[in-house]
Amino acid sequence: MMDMGGSQSDELEFCLGTEQDFEQVLDISEGSHDGLDYMAVTYHCWLKEPGRMVFLAKKQGKVVALESALLVDGGETVVLQGLRVHPAQRGLGVAGAIQRHVSQYLRTHCPLVATRRLARGDDPGPEALSKYRLLSREAILTLCGEVSELGPFLVDLERKLGQEAGREGVPQPVLLSQEAAETLVLSEHVVRNLLPAGNIINDWEPLKPIESNLEILRRRGLTWVADRAELPAALSLCTTPYRVPYRPDAYHFNINIFGSDQTRARLVFLAQLRQLLPSLCGYVIFHNYVHPSLWPGMREFCRSSAGVSLFRDYWEELMLETDI
Ligand SMILES: CC(C)(COP(=O)(O)OP(=O)(O)OC[C@H]1O[C@@H](n2cnc3c(N)ncnc32)[C@H](O)[C@@H]1OP(=O)(O)O)[C@@H](O)C(=O)NCCC(=O)NCCS
Repeated sequence: MMDMGGSQSDELEFCLGTEQDFEQVLDISEGSHDGLDYMAVTYHCWLKEPGRMVFLAKKQGKVVALESALLVDGGETVVLQGLRVHPAQRGLGVAGAIQRHVSQYLRTHCPLVATRRLARGDDPGPEALSKYRLLSREAILTLCGEVSELGPFLVDLERKLGQEAGREGVPQPVLLSQEAAETLVLSEHVVRNLLPAGNIINDWEPLKPIESNLEILRRRGLTWVADRAELPAALSLCTTPYRVPYRPDAYHFNINIFGSDQTRARLVFLAQLRQLLPSLCGYVIFHNYVHPSLWPGMREFCRSSAGVSLFRDYWEELMLETDI
């Protein structure tokens, strides 16, 4: 066990997570993220991932909190993910204590790290926000439905898109190879015009568009689609679907869309779903991250008589950064 020296509680001890902690990590995660928590799927992967540390806080030997730190940007930045506190221990400063421990650990063991970056899905309020540099805001359109309804939903939306395009016809989006996606995402055009504040956001993972981060993206098994192969107006990535606790047959995935052209965003959104549909089953809940200016139009576009509906009203993912 690492000694914490934290101000909040002498009872807290800190350590790095192991396979043996898995059940207790699930216990503290119960009810997190509206039933869409990823921890059951990612915990084992996180323990093995290069450059990732999973920190636990324990009280009397029992796990009460978790926070993870992934080294990115060639080791100069950590991306913090997974913060959670046992429901019975919330409101006591435990989250603050584990966060301070992680910063202290990084200062001691990873002196190259200068910055910590994180994504938040809640509204922290002006006071908490003032502790960070706000890099960008992405609006999230969360949809859900039976997979059997997804086909009719796509047909309906493709028809709408066709009507909007009129005689010009709907452009053919491009499914990108890993190599093509990597070239595009590092290109000056994409970095300057499409990426939010110049950062690649994969799910809740903000990464600088630099060569050393491509290896991290490769691990994620992403599907990349652009509205066109060269100088795209919309570029998107989609994560591999994974099971979530919401329902026994529920799967979750994320589509990040970069760019602020409404029609092109719709095009890549539909292409991602078309691509994914044959591999899906059960019930899906999926987050679509778009430029905030696109949310109302995307919401309107997704109104359909097919049984795919809004899971949650407008919300945002905030990209935040502070010095270590
Ligand atoms: C959010 C949660 C971790 C807060 O735990 P807590 O022990 O009650 O929080 P504390 O009493 O320590 O007070 C809040 C501290 O956590 C920080 N915090 C709260 N929510 C946060 C978030 N989403 N991301 C980063 N930090 C957060 C606050 O900034 C504050 O830090 P400070 O002490 O340096 O000011 C807890 O409610 C929880 O586990 N919720 C379910 C999972 C979840 O929503 N996790 C957050 C997103 S990954």
